[in-house]
Amino acid sequence: MKTVLHVVGARPNYMKIAPLMDALRSVDGLRQILVNTGQHYDEAMAKGFIRELSLPMPDRDLEVGSASHAVQTGNVMIRFEQVCLEERPDLVVVVGDVNSTMAATLVATKLHIPVAHVEAGLRSFDRTMPEEINRIVTDRLADLLLTPSPDGNDNLLREGVPAERIHLVGNIMIDTLYRHLPLATLDRVADRVTVRDGEYAVLTLHRPSNVDVRDTFHGILSAVATIAAEMPVVFPVHPRTQARVKEFGFDDFLKNVQVTGPLGYIDFLSLTSHARLILTDSGGLQEESTALGIPCLTLRENTERPITVTHGTNTIVGTKTANIVAGYRAAMRGEVSKQRPDLWDGQTARRVSAILQRYLFG
Ligand code: UD1
Repeated sequence: MKTVLHVVGARPNYMKIAPLMDALRSVDGLRQILVNTGQHYDEAMAKGFIRELSLPMPDRDLEVGSASHAVQTGNVMIRFEQVCLEERPDLVVVVGDVNSTMAATLVATKLHIPVAHVEAGLRSFDRTMPEEINRIVTDRLADLLLTPSPDGNDNLLREGVPAERIHLVGNIMIDTLYRHLPLATLDRVADRVTVRDGEYAVLTLHRPSNVDVRDTFHGILSAVATIAAEMPVVFPVHPRTQARVKEFGFDDFLKNVQVTGPLGYIDFLSLTSHARLILTDSGGLQEESTALGIPCLTLRENTERPITVTHGTNTIVGTKTANIVAGYRAAMRGEVSKQRPDLWDGQTARRVSAILQRYLFG
């Protein structure tokens, strides 16, 4: 019997682990354990996703909660080490680039437990981004590097990772998107927002560099107010962002915006899949809008997901008011490219599962 231990912790992790656990479920001689670090803990940010995506309830909850980077990372490490010592897994699977991803990788590697990183190789080349540090450390240590796009392979090879550790598998989050798309209807959210199919924008913002810095946040919200005067804008707001709106006294910018709390996975997909435009600073949403064929304006100066620009619907517009508004006008005029990157086909979990089985059972 072999044991695979999967690690989740923050909202963007659940949709990446769910299809993989499903694909491995029927493998003989394999036991799966799910560890939830508790980096996110509100119902709408964590457990709600677990239920909706039919993930098993976690076998272990580490309940680390919010804290500074060092404290949060340290707490995951201390508690995850104990779990590894008790469960003695043959492989640890981590996804994405959050603090829990890096913390679990450090612990497992020091205990000589091999690590598989799903969504390896992405680089923004911007070390002020906490996720970039998490990505670099995780990829440096992981034994199996499963990449979503060829740029991931190129980055890893350039950093000296041996080619035999790297596998191009496609985007596992898109497996979850295709699986749930038939359930995504505007009826589901009709009690919370007033929108018409294809005639509104969806906005998300949560990155500290955007919302914790008063001037930057001011510039973004000024553009949002301009757009909201012309078309309905729906804004499911992250807890961090909500706190900053209050602290900076920015409520007025949002007076024409339909603000909701964080939404569940299918409700959010209902909104994005019927939108005319997406504005975001999220990584995952750049990919989801590409898969959906909906134009996306990324409110950052760079992206670790360049394939969404070269082979998708994404434009990097930065955070200055004039540039965001110009990007919005261009998107309203322009033809949307319907390209989709290779291997973003809903079959990534099957490919990852085959690679993990070969690794574990030879
Ligand atoms: C984290 C990830 C980021 C990911 C994002 C998705 C890192 C470094 N960052 O950022 O990559 O894109 O999750 O949401 O791992 N809070 C709540 N309830 C919760 C969770 C957080 O109220 O369930 C509040 C707390 O005040 C907390 C703040 O949100 O301080 C930020 O949470 P945190 O997990 O530190 O980082 P995120 O900004 O969510």
